[in-house]
Amino acid sequence: MKYVVNDGCIGCGLCASTCPEVFSIGDEGVAVAIQTEVPEEALKCAAEAKDGCPVGAIEEV
Ligand code: F3S
Repeated sequence: MKYVVNDGCIGCGLCASTCPEVFSIGDEGVAVAIQTEVPEEALKCAAEAKDGCPVGAIEEV
């Protein structure tokens, strides 16, 4: 499983604090997801981050 952050991100930072293994705030002030498969141990927090994003900017791909 992989995730992407779409243009809706407002840079609130919740995903990066919920699941820093997968999400971080990039140079442009919005979140970016790792581009590789989400490691097994991070699947739970990545799903929580997706559910918690206030603008629904995290998508599964
Ligand atoms: Fe952006 Fe949502 Fe994360 S607004 S910083 S993708 S929690």
